[in-house]
Amino acid sequence: MSGPANPPILQILPDSAPFSPEQRTWLSGLFAGFLGLDQAVTPLSSEEAAALLPGVLTAPIGASADEGPVTWHDPGIPITERMKLAEGRSVRMRMMAAMAQQDCGQCGSSCEEYSGHIFDKKEARLNLCVPGGKDTSRMLKKLFDEIGLSAPPLASEATAPASSPAAEVKPAPAALPGRSRDNPVTATVVSRTLLNRKGSEKETWHVEFDLTQSGLDYEVGDSFGIIPVNDPGLVSAIIKALSAPADFPIGGRTLRDVLTDGVSLSPAPDMLFQLFSYVTGGERRQKAKALSAGDDPDGDAKTLDVLAAIEKFPGIRPDPEAFIEALDPLQPRLYSISSSLKAHPSRISLTVDTVRYQIAKRQRLGVASTFLAERVAPGDRVKVYIQQAHNFGLPADPAVPIIMVGPGTGIAPFRAFLYERMATRAPGRNWLFFGHQRHDCDFFYEDELNAMKAAGVLTRLSLAWSRDDKGKFYVQDRMRQVGHDVWTWLQDGAHFYVCGAVRMGLDVERAMVDIVAQHGARTPDQAIAYVADLKKHGRYQADIY
Ligand SMILES: Cc1cc2nc3c(=O)[nH]c(=O)nc-3n(C[C@H](O)[C@H](O)[C@H](O)COP(=O)(O)OP(=O)(O)OC[C@H]3O[C@@H](n4cnc5c(N)ncnc54)[C@H](O)[C@@H]3O)c2cc1C
Ligand SMILES: NC(=O)c1ccc[n+]([C@@H]2O[C@H](COP(=O)([O-])OP(=O)(O)OC[C@H]3O[C@@H](n4cnc5c(N)ncnc54)[C@H](OP(=O)(O)O)[C@@H]3O)[C@@H](O)[C@H]2O)c1
Repeated sequence: MSGPANPPILQILPDSAPFSPEQRTWLSGLFAGFLGLDQAVTPLSSEEAAALLPGVLTAPIGASADEGPVTWHDPGIPITERMKLAEGRSVRMRMMAAMAQQDCGQCGSSCEEYSGHIFDKKEARLNLCVPGGKDTSRMLKKLFDEIGLSAPPLASEATAPASSPAAEVKPAPAALPGRSRDNPVTATVVSRTLLNRKGSEKETWHVEFDLTQSGLDYEVGDSFGIIPVNDPGLVSAIIKALSAPADFPIGGRTLRDVLTDGVSLSPAPDMLFQLFSYVTGGERRQKAKALSAGDDPDGDAKTLDVLAAIEKFPGIRPDPEAFIEALDPLQPRLYSISSSLKAHPSRISLTVDTVRYQIAKRQRLGVASTFLAERVAPGDRVKVYIQQAHNFGLPADPAVPIIMVGPGTGIAPFRAFLYERMATRAPGRNWLFFGHQRHDCDFFYEDELNAMKAAGVLTRLSLAWSRDDKGKFYVQDRMRQVGHDVWTWLQDGAHFYVCGAVRMGLDVERAMVDIVAQHGARTPDQAIAYVADLKKHGRYQADIY
């Protein structure tokens, strides 16, 4: 999604006026409005500015007419660079720059909407940007401090006391059941099928749910939100490490229950280390304080989930209720929907890569992917919601050709697109680029894709296997090989889609720029502008995570 295309606001206040960059920008916008200027061109004198000032500074800083292009809306730009690009802009805009810029929908909306809700005090939770992680929530807190507002606590709003700033937040209107992370419904697990064959290093599941009782429907391109439950083994290990009674009462529930479905057990939040610094002394206290400030005294901060954090301070005994309040809420996870209601009535399917990795002696489990891979069974009811896509969907005109690039689990929405186009007998051509580690064991939905090819639905299938030969070979390498044809499809009006891991998405975009430059006879700058224009017109859509 590109940022607002408002013209930049030129300097209107004199340099000597005693304002911060935010105040300066906001006031310039306001004065330009007063003066009826599209762009304010003449700096006011101090006297003129002062005459316009009374009452103005009580208004929210940065709340209006902001001003100039958003240059940081690119998930490839690190947060430090994004904040530099947003320097001198309003706090609202800098909050937007603090987001991970993926528009992934995990917070419930786009980067711009989420930051706007925080700025407008409609959203108290500063930790909903999952890809931004702690860096984003720390930056948001800093921005709150900068404008002299107290930031809401980072811990669960569910556990926040009634008098906390979180309680002052104006709640957003309740969404319809099953249409938002805050109002889930239940769906029934129907089946789980392993998509990898013997010899694979991956474990990816096709998981199907029945929606009959949920009342839900969806469009292809949407995602399915799953409210997971933590691994009971990890919960027991934490209770043991705390030497706390599992049935310790917390808000009418037990410690075990809240640890199971109420709080995130990875990564350890700053607040937890802050709590530890209050209940321990000496060098340990200094270490806990440093960790709570985002420092990394022992070089292991990235490996500290909640259990590892407790184990780092052996014998630590925080009050269980304070401990729970110091943790972040357990977040839902999104999965691209890999089915079409038109082809699979009352069903929804996902394509889920199981996250497991080892740190020291302990195997860490991705909470939602292992929940789906091993802790639910057919017949179980799971809390879910539909996350409507932000700018990711089939072209309105069924005759428009589409090119889809989806390696690994990135194939999910494109399986849905293909079924939808088959069910609706859409005449447009369909070209899929799929890739994974090995042809023999990682070719997801091979039979279905071959059948679609035979039926003429899948016009073209281009494959890339990264571990079959010595060197890596990726989807973007295949795209470059057939760049002339990609360019021809684009000339025919094709819409281009990419889905999957972030790094891959960025590399695919680079390949597209190269293809446009080479086969469209453009300079690199013209090719970048061409791809930007495709995006602007909804002809280049990305769903990356
Ligand atoms: C719009 C959208 C669509 C998505 N669609 C899909 C989809 O179709 N299929 C799919 O599988 N996923 C999809 N995802 C990703 C999915 O939402 C989850 O992020 C993913 O399943 C991991 O969640 P988890 O709870 O299992 O893992 P978590 O508990 O969240 O753990 C993952 C975290 O563990 C850490 N980690 C992982 N591996 C390692 C390692 N080797 N070493 C050290 N640390 C590591 C990283 O910090 C990582 O962020 C999508 C995400 C979005 C936003
Ligand atoms: N945060 C990250 O950077 C990252 C990266 C990968 C996966 N993940 C997570 O893993 C899950 C998705 O994994 P997945 O099962 O869909 O498959 P995947 O691990 O993303 O791999 C799919 C295919 O893409 C290849 N690949 C790796 N890097 C690439 C790049 N830069 N450009 C093009 N192709 C590339 C892989 O090759 P090789 O593995 O042989 O290199 C493999 O052949 C998600 O949960 C995602 O969040 C995250």
